[in-house]
Amino acid sequence: MTPVASTIAIPAMLDPHVHLRGLEWAHKGTFASETAAALAGGYWAVLDMPNTPPSTVDLPALEAKLAAIGREAVCDWGIYFGASQADNTAAYPAAADRVCGLKIYNNATTGDLLIEDQARRAAHYGAWPRRRIVAVHAEGRTVADILALVRATGQRTHFCHISTAEEIALLRAAKAEGLPVTVGVTPHHLFLTEDDVAALGALGRMKPELKTRADQAALWDAIGNGVVDVVESDHAPHTLAEKAADPAPSGVPGLETTLPLLLTAAREGRLSLARVVELVAERPRAIFGLAAPPDTVTVVDPDASTVIERGSLHTLCGWSPFEGMRVWGKVREVRIRGRVVFDGKRVLAAPGSGQNLFPGGAA
Ligand code: NCD
Ligand code: ZN
Ligand code: ZN
Repeated sequence: MTPVASTIAIPAMLDPHVHLRGLEWAHKGTFASETAAALAGGYWAVLDMPNTPPSTVDLPALEAKLAAIGREAVCDWGIYFGASQADNTAAYPAAADRVCGLKIYNNATTGDLLIEDQARRAAHYGAWPRRRIVAVHAEGRTVADILALVRATGQRTHFCHISTAEEIALLRAAKAEGLPVTVGVTPHHLFLTEDDVAALGALGRMKPELKTRADQAALWDAIGNGVVDVVESDHAPHTLAEKAADPAPSGVPGLETTLPLLLTAAREGRLSLARVVELVAERPRAIFGLAAPPDTVTVVDPDASTVIERGSLHTLCGWSPFEGMRVWGKVREVRIRGRVVFDGKRVLAAPGSGQNLFPGGAA
């Protein structure tokens, strides 16, 4: 008798931190290719960051991105508005209804949206409508600077890609204080450390950088004790040619490897399956106030094992920092509103069939 394969069904997975590229960076990835990668990774929906040129910091750029992603997306989606160095707060009331949140870059990274002046950060915090969240790139002591703004304004704030023990300690205390903050960590900070940089070279280069084993252990502790709310891929494709340049741009793809890495960790007893579902589906949906659509599910075979290889990826950039790793848990099917959009091999959804989760409308 052959054993009956048992599958797991995860409802409506949401990655709240991706850089799909497209627009002027379509050579790195397109809305079509990277939302296809999202489906192949098991995701129902993704929330796209504003730092791809032309940066999503004014209403014409917002319209252009909404139109382009609307034409191409094969999974559901939302986009962030960006805080710009030039004061763009006048656009906030009109933009807020049409986006999932405001992104503020408080430390240097890809793009030109860095805001280092605390008074300017405060102006952006003051102007953004309270009904939508703020997401921040903040590293090290900058986390404390942003917490001061959260304390002063009461603005709900999501801390992206937290990567050190020091940052975890600050956010653990902020949560104990009752501040309305949530915490995201990435698979690369959970599964790689600075020890991997020598072998990975530029493919191990991202912001925040890979950290020490002690920092990595602090992230896993914070997954265990609930300080971490979500695992977000920070999917940020660059071409291999760009990664071969000096200096190489920062950023790594992650949409297709996050779920198998977490399921492998679950198999090894590092976290429960229920906790994986919280981290990639339930908590991200709750943070952004999104209900799972009916019959929207990712079917996974937890007993199927694969080696991560660039040839099997859908992302246009065609590489992964996790290449060569054996992982457990294969996505067999993704359904959105009852339709099979990924069958385990091929994306079956038509371009433009993905829905905007923040369509705006009623004032
Ligand atoms: C991201 C990118 O390339 O857009 N890069 C990265 O290293 N994470 C930007 C970001 O998330 O800060
Ligand atoms: Zn960032
Ligand atoms: Zn990012």
